[in-house]
Amino acid sequence: MRKPLLILIVILPLIFLDSCSSDNSLEIPFLKQNGEANQLIVDGKPFLILGGELHNSSSSSRDYMKKFWPELEASGMNTVLAAVEWSLVEPEEGIFDYTIIDNLLEDARAHNLRLILLWFGSWKNSQSAYIPDWIKSDYNRFPRVKASFGKSLEILSPFYQESLNADTKAFANVMKHLREVDSEYRTVIMMQVENEVGILGSARDHSPAAETAFNSSVPQELIDHLVKHKANLFPGLSETWKASDYKTSGTWKDLFGSNGKADEIFMAWNYSRYINSIAKAGKAEYPLPMFVNAWLVQKSDKIPGDYPSGGPQAHMLDIWKAGSPDLDLYVPDIYRPEFAELCDLYTHNDNTLFIPEARAGELGAAQFFYAIGKHKSIGYSPFGFEARTQDIENDPVTIAYKIASGMAPLILEAQSRGTITSVLLNTETKPLEEIVLGDYKLIAEIPDAPPQPLPFESYGIIMNPAPDEYIIYGKDIQFSFLPVTPGPAIAGIAHVDEGIFDNGKWIPGRRLNGDEIFLDIDLAARAVENKTGTGIKFYLGNEKIQWVKLYRYE
Ligand code: DGJ
Repeated sequence: MRKPLLILIVILPLIFLDSCSSDNSLEIPFLKQNGEANQLIVDGKPFLILGGELHNSSSSSRDYMKKFWPELEASGMNTVLAAVEWSLVEPEEGIFDYTIIDNLLEDARAHNLRLILLWFGSWKNSQSAYIPDWIKSDYNRFPRVKASFGKSLEILSPFYQESLNADTKAFANVMKHLREVDSEYRTVIMMQVENEVGILGSARDHSPAAETAFNSSVPQELIDHLVKHKANLFPGLSETWKASDYKTSGTWKDLFGSNGKADEIFMAWNYSRYINSIAKAGKAEYPLPMFVNAWLVQKSDKIPGDYPSGGPQAHMLDIWKAGSPDLDLYVPDIYRPEFAELCDLYTHNDNTLFIPEARAGELGAAQFFYAIGKHKSIGYSPFGFEARTQDIENDPVTIAYKIASGMAPLILEAQSRGTITSVLLNTETKPLEEIVLGDYKLIAEIPDAPPQPLPFESYGIIMNPAPDEYIIYGKDIQFSFLPVTPGPAIAGIAHVDEGIFDNGKWIPGRRLNGDEIFLDIDLAARAVENKTGTGIKFYLGNEKIQWVKLYRYE
């Protein structure tokens, strides 16, 4: 036998064994302020969630999921968001069955994917559809929300201790189980506690316990928090409180008026207290980062109750933050077209962004790059990801995730250094944006003839790794550059290389100093405002990153 072959035979099994063995020194995932960004740390390193959320019921059947796992793995994603339903975990009171969790762990690991588990406990989309049957039918022990018109709704009231105890016990057991079976792997990196909570159909709960609480004084703890943060409350809340001249004692109506606002604030406080108890008990077993997600107010909604009243809307985040110190994130599910505005709203007061549900497709890819670049989001996750397309390889989110996973180390580093941003353009609402990053103003525009039907979205993610250098990826967009710091007034392109990143390593392709650069001869000749009329451009179908080096002259 030849020597190299012999060495291989001896060494290969050792390498294989090593890669299969679990590393029990792995730290539990946590959130950490890293320079300018609050980042999720997994296995000791910043982690960018390239996520996808499964349809609600998919995780309940391993058989159903079987054909999707290889597709998920092929889709460039790194994290699956999957539901864990209380009704399956505790089918009979006190009898726990963790099969759904164990299946998810095994299948995710087999496909090199991480998990974020969504605890469908007391509430999922306002309703209590996933509570066990023994809770559903025992409505005297586990009372429902009563609407303003007296009817009981299919929503557990957050005002009853028995319900809270039962959910807390179940969730704590889930976290204990995860500690026992996942500490050595860290497959699960975060937990979502409940899903899109709030009352639909009534601005507040009118059950007997809720009535008593509503007619009592606003808890001092909440008032102290509001007083402390008075100068910097999230938009929306301050105006409501101001109407009472910032009263600091009295009932909910005394402080927040009688027009439905007090109802919503009252519910937000009580949902946040309830969920905090659950999260706290869960963290005592296994302290993964935990978050709640919001069903956002829609344009046609007029009053709380048209949208889930008391949920973690941006205008309720101060109440939530006061009521749930054990939660780490309050995040939006964004299906509305005002994506940029909503990201902006949810990053008020340094709130950390994550988007657990949003759109897929070309728009999803654009939104993903926008959220991680402009708002340092810890990740993005289209909903219904397992069933989005048959052509996984050419799916826009697959392409986006593959580009992003190669450059994730750079993105995360740039997030922490504040040397990253993004633009999201639209032919009708925003065809041009000027941004300053480093020593240059970048003028981002949709090219004259965008190749798709209008209106049309284009985007770009931009990093500034060194003076005069930009790493940019985009779709149907062009960029030109203007110096903004002292020195020669005109920016020229020294050179542009296209390429990709593989695990943070630059793999250059063509040098693009010719026709691939855009040139506006008119502008170049007139040198209007020191614009050279040259820049770089990206078009659909060329999925390459461009690394541009600028120089300055006059
Ligand atoms: C938002 C919910 O959180 C999800 O569980 C799912 O129902 C989607 N809406 C459906 O669009």
